Amino acid sequence: MKIISHRGASGYAPENTLKAFDLAVKMGSRDFEFDVHRTRDGRLVVHHDYDLSHTAGSPARIAELDYAELSRLNAAAHFAADPAFQRVPLLEEVLDMVGPAADWINLEVKNDGGVYPGIEAEVLAALGSRPGLFEKSLVSSFDHDTLRRFRELSPELKLGWLGHGLNEILLAPAVLKARAVRAESFHLALRIAFRPNVALIKKAGFAVRVYTVNSKKDALRMKEAGADGVFSNYPDIMEEEA
Ligand code: G3P
Ligand code: MG
Repeated sequence: MKIISHRGASGYAPENTLKAFDLAVKMGSRDFEFDVHRTRDGRLVVHHDYDLSHTAGSPARIAELDYAELSRLNAAAHFAADPAFQRVPLLEEVLDMVGPAADWINLEVKNDGGVYPGIEAEVLAALGSRPGLFEKSLVSSFDHDTLRRFRELSPELKLGWLGHGLNEILLAPAVLKARAVRAESFHLALRIAFRPNVALIKKAGFAVRVYTVNSKKDALRMKEAGADGVFSNYPDIMEEEA
């Protein structure tokens, strides 16, 4: 089972910053996940939320800021252990940092309600801009129309279905929808990642990757349940004292 660094080594450094990605690489991560947005002036950037409330204490929305403005906000301000200034990185910077180390990269495209029209083609262009990157990348999204548009644009792109608000009843229909878009990976919340659910998804032919797993106990339980990977803020989670 793979340990996928979630927003970089975000348990040890401010999430989705170059510091967190650099640390993940130095800790030996080979599998990476991060979240993609777009600024008003069209730059693809890496950050979790649609605004900077949580990270920088500013309600500014990424879609309404030019990158020059966004880059003045401290995305590390929330991280008590190390609040020294870190800007929201450009996607290209993150790809340059993790790309050479990566076996696998999961770009989670945040596009609820289609807030970033045309982002699919732009992400595909970024993936095509570096040798070998497209092949080791997988795009996921909670916005399933976004996944459908990616599939229309690219028959070959690996897709991951991000299950949202799922329960035992909604799981089987979600698996059918994931199959319809030809996703190869199904990303499941830890709270419903019980062995029968993991088995159902694997039987349907998907890899199962579980978010977010931040204790060794849960990681071992996921391994036992048959998960292919876990997204963790702690790339060294398996080395923890039990
Ligand atoms: O991609 C897995 C996980 O990151 C999805 O949830 O909210 O942490 O982006 P979130
Ligand atoms: Mg994410």
